[in-house]
Amino acid sequence: MEKTLLFYEKDDYYDFKDSKNLEGYSIISIAKLFHNPSLIPEVDVDSEIIDLSALTEYNSIQSITEQVISQFNGTPIFICDVSKREKLEYELRFVFDVFENVDKTSFPKKEREIHPVDKDKQLVSKKHRKIIDLDNDELIIFFDEFSSKLYGHSKFKDDFREQINTFRVFNKLGEHKILSLFLMGESGVGKTEVARAIFNCLKGEKKLAKINFGNYSNEFSLSSLIGSARGYTGSEDGEIFMKVRETDIGVLLIDEFEKSNASLFNYFLNVLETGIMESSMGEQMDLNGFIIIFTSNISKEDFKKRISPELRSRFDYKCMFTLLDNFDKKKYIEFRAERIRKKVFIEYNIELGDELKNYLLSKINVSSYKNMRDINKQIKKEFLCYLAKLTTED
Ligand SMILES: Nc1ncnc2c1ncn2[C@@H]1O[C@H](COP(=O)(O)OP(=O)(O)O)[C@@H](O)[C@H]1O
Ligand SMILES: [Mg+2]
Repeated sequence: MEKTLLFYEKDDYYDFKDSKNLEGYSIISIAKLFHNPSLIPEVDVDSEIIDLSALTEYNSIQSITEQVISQFNGTPIFICDVSKREKLEYELRFVFDVFENVDKTSFPKKEREIHPVDKDKQLVSKKHRKIIDLDNDELIIFFDEFSSKLYGHSKFKDDFREQINTFRVFNKLGEHKILSLFLMGESGVGKTEVARAIFNCLKGEKKLAKINFGNYSNEFSLSSLIGSARGYTGSEDGEIFMKVRETDIGVLLIDEFEKSNASLFNYFLNVLETGIMESSMGEQMDLNGFIIIFTSNISKEDFKKRISPELRSRFDYKCMFTLLDNFDKKKYIEFRAERIRKKVFIEYNIELGDELKNYLLSKINVSSYKNMRDINKQIKKEFLCYLAKLTTED
C-alpha cells in the first residue's frame, strides 16, 4: 500500500482535528510514542492518526521513523505541520511514497477563540497562544524542542519544566496569573535566548514582545512605557501595550530590568500580583497565562541591593546563568554549522557534509571564549575563510 504523508497548515490544525474526531479518529504525536515505546504496538491504525511534526527535533529521522512504523499493525494516517515539509520530505523520502497537503475542502473552517472562559470580556490576551493552552502531548513536544534549542543550562531546564507544570495547575485554579522568571548572569550566556526559545517553541509567527528597561531609566519612564496620562503630550499608549498587542504569543521579555527605577518596579509588582496591565489611559490588558521573563546582567550581590525584597519575593523563579561549558559550546558550534550547511545546500546545491563542522571545531578554541556572541562572530569569520579556501581549491 502507498504510504502518504499529509501536511496541514497550523491555522487549520484544530478544524482538521475536530473533523477527524467526528470520524472517530484521535491524533497522537510521534513524540509521545518515543517517550512511551510500549505504546507503539498498541496503536490502532484505524482510529489513530500519527502526527510527525516533532520529528524535526530528533536525529537519524529516517531510521527512528522506520523503527516505529515497522511495529505498527497496519498503516495509519500520517500528518505533519507544513512548516516542516521541506525537511521531512527530504529525510523521509525512502519512507513515504507520496507527500501532499491535506485537502482543505474536506473539513469546515470555524472561527476560534483560544479562551472560551474570557468570552464576554473584551480582553486582548485571547489572541495570544500561551503555555497554559497546550495539551499534554503538545507540552511534551514543547519541552523537547525547548531543550534542544537552548544549549546547556540543564539545571534551569529541569526547574523550568517544574515551574511550568505547577503554573499550569495553579493557573487553572485561578491562583497563579503570571509565571515570572528572573534570569541573571553575564552578557551572552543565553538569557534572552530563553525567551526567544519559548516564543519559537510556542510557534510564534509574529514578533516576541520585548522591552528594554535600559531605555526607561529617567523620571518619565513609567509614562512613556504605559502611555502618558490624558492631556499629557506623547504617545497614546506606551510601548509595552503596543508590543503585547502586536505579538501572537503569551511571553513578555523585559531586558535589563535593573536599569529602571522604583516607579516601574512597583508597577510590575502590581502586574505580577493581579495579572492585569493597565495603561495610564485606563485601558486594561489581561496577561493571565503569560510568562514574563526578566533578564539582568546584575551580580548576585547587586541583585539584593538594587531590587527590593517585596519584588524579589514576587518572582516565581530566580536563576543565575553561567557560561556554557566547553562541551556545550562545541555542541552550539555543531548546531550553527549544521544550519549553515543546510542553507548552503538550499542556496548553492553544494553538500558540505561534516566538513564545515569539523573545520569550525578545529579552528575555534571554545575555551578562550567567555561569551556566546563572540563565538557566533568567530563562526561567521571562519566560515568566510572556509569559503575562500573552497573557491581557491576549485
Ligand atoms: N545556551 C544557549 N543556547 C543557544 N544559543 C545561545 C545560548 N547562549 C547564547 N546563545 C546565542 O548567543 C547569542 C547571545 O545570547 P543571548 O541570549 O542574547 O545573551 P544574553 O545572556 O546576554 O541575553 C544569541 O545569538 C544566542 O542565540
Ligand atoms: Mg540579553
